[in-house]
Amino acid sequence: MTLPLSPLLHFSHVNKRFTVDGQPIEAIHDFNLDVAPGEFVAIVGSSGCGKSTLLRLLIGLDREFQGAIELDGVAVDGNASDCAIVFQEHRLFPWLTVTQNIALGLATQPLEKAERDRRIAGFIELVGLSAFSQAYPHQLSGGMAQRVAIARGLVASPRVLLLDEPFAALDALTRQQLQDELLTLRAKASITALLVTHDVEEAIYLADRVVVMAPRPGRIKRVVAINLPHPRHRGSYEFHQLREELLHELTREGPYVAPSRELIRDVEALYIAC
Ligand SMILES: Nc1ncnc2c1ncn2[C@@H]1O[C@H](COP(=O)(O)OP(=O)(O)O)[C@@H](O)[C@H]1O
Ligand SMILES: [Mg+2]
Repeated sequence: MTLPLSPLLHFSHVNKRFTVDGQPIEAIHDFNLDVAPGEFVAIVGSSGCGKSTLLRLLIGLDREFQGAIELDGVAVDGNASDCAIVFQEHRLFPWLTVTQNIALGLATQPLEKAERDRRIAGFIELVGLSAFSQAYPHQLSGGMAQRVAIARGLVASPRVLLLDEPFAALDALTRQQLQDELLTLRAKASITALLVTHDVEEAIYLADRVVVMAPRPGRIKRVVAINLPHPRHRGSYEFHQLREELLHELTREGPYVAPSRELIRDVEALYIAC
């Protein structure tokens, strides 16, 4: 008998309120989620439903909340090496080279210089930027800069990689390239990832499970397992079905009723006949 893996990340009855102009705003209401080691979970939801707030609580940037957030059974305390986070903007230091920016990810780790250099070079190679190791951020494209940000996040071998709309500012082609690279990195570096996105397609393409959030107050509406093998095909019937279902959850009330394959075939036949 195989026992289920105990969760690496555990959110239990998390509630978070802000006060704006003396009025309470319930940013997160009763958020419960377990993430297994090695799992890739995406959180989708419209702007303002508490996605970034959740990540801030998880990395200990904000400690005023109700409920519990645990990493490996221990309440999160903002320890820098437990979680790495990648934002929509790359947040690289313009006066540092690619190598120096990635080295910042190891700032809190007591490593021998040779080991430090080896780790940094390894990650630069992993994100395909060996020819740019001495380049400065202004010499990089948006996609390259985001690869550096991901390498900086992973170089310290964090327990969890957090991604807050990491590809939202990139053009569609670069976004798709980086999504594929993230899946390759995930396989090579066996990372556990929590991705925040408003892009339903991105969530289905990358994640093992998708958490759909609803706003005001920010809460979980549904959790959907994505049981499609990799590589996933955006044009497949199953992918299309999941996209429709998740979009329905995000934008409408009431249960989603999937059209049957037969109905789709009939409609296609009608189009051809016309
Ligand atoms: N520092 C803050 N002070 C007051 N309200 C905030 C603060 N940060 C976020 N909020 C509010 O909390 C809600 C969730 O915000 P956020 O987590 O940034 O949403 P998302 O990342 O899903 O777009 C929003 O209503 C936002 O206005
Ligand atoms: Mg946000």
